[in-house]
Amino acid sequence: MIKRIGILTSGGDCAGLNTVIRAVTLRAIKQYNWDVFGIRDGTLGLTKTPVDAVKLKESDFDGSLMRMGGTFLGSNNKIIQKNASKSQVSDLTIRGINSLRLDALIGIGGDGSLKILQSLTKKGKINFVGIPKTIDNDVKDNELSIGHDTAVDVATNALDMLQPTAASHRRAMILEVMGRDAGHIALNAGIAGGADVILIPEIPYSIKSIADHIDQIRSNGRNHALIVVAEAVRKESGKRAIVKYIDGQVRLGGIGAYLGDEIYKLTNAETRVTVLGHLQRGAQPTHRDRLIASAFGVHAVDLIAQKKFNRVVVWKNRIVQDVSLDNIAGKSKTLSKEDPLIEVARGLGIYIGNVN
Ligand code: F6P
Repeated sequence: MIKRIGILTSGGDCAGLNTVIRAVTLRAIKQYNWDVFGIRDGTLGLTKTPVDAVKLKESDFDGSLMRMGGTFLGSNNKIIQKNASKSQVSDLTIRGINSLRLDALIGIGGDGSLKILQSLTKKGKINFVGIPKTIDNDVKDNELSIGHDTAVDVATNALDMLQPTAASHRRAMILEVMGRDAGHIALNAGIAGGADVILIPEIPYSIKSIADHIDQIRSNGRNHALIVVAEAVRKESGKRAIVKYIDGQVRLGGIGAYLGDEIYKLTNAETRVTVLGHLQRGAQPTHRDRLIASAFGVHAVDLIAQKKFNRVVVWKNRIVQDVSLDNIAGKSKTLSKEDPLIEVARGLGIYIGNVN
């Protein structure tokens, strides 16, 4: 008999997390009369003694929370703890789940988090259902992850706001967007926001071709250009654009600035660079993100009720479905050169790298 379930958000935050926590809580309480425990700060809350968790109630969702970005439970994208090995941390985490006497756990995360939760729940023999979230939208076998639609909307709005300045100053404006392994945000926002150049990590490009494209735009009588680049795009040399932070961490960053300089050298066009960064994660969720978050939450609870574990809910053909966690954990969904949207971009005359 299922009586108590836990829910946690893991990895980077995004829009729609509060909406999905609400959906899980409402379905579990209203339909099944279960107790729902919200675990704080992702798996980190489970390693605390006592476990950092709170019993969720219908009244926690007063109507405003589902509209807000972030996760009110908190999240965590590091599993490492000072003075503890990986296996010690996973033992602590499993102990935490057991101490809450949970009959099942729902984990909301991207491909990396789902992989971690897979090995953890296998090791601890814990009934698990996953819900995909990531602005990058790179979870395999899933058309839409929670947070992606909002991030694309933010990036599209950014292009709308950059275009007037590009035109007023005859500039090439470069927008660097997130996407650690894949170019879904860049491609979608680039098409929706009228970009002239879209660079994604899946397709190689040359600065010369970008410069030729800008010259072509000029000779057709337009004085400005919009360029979208995913943060994971490499320099022409094949080197990654990275920034080393004071805490020793190395993160993606700087491809926009690199392109700005290189394009200027070949075209003499004045370039300006905007790095959109975490603005893509904290916005109010779009209606579509709220919709899939709600559908995911209800379906995840129903899977538990049917005792279908080790599953991940996914969005396919405009409905919620579920797939085996083992088939998707840790596997990234990148763009194929045959993706229909790449054809759309090419059809619009957008330079999207050397596709052939
Ligand atoms: O994976 C989601 C993502 O937003 C990436 O696009 C980005 O590179 C990364 O997270 C940034 O994470 P952090 O919160 O550590 O800066």
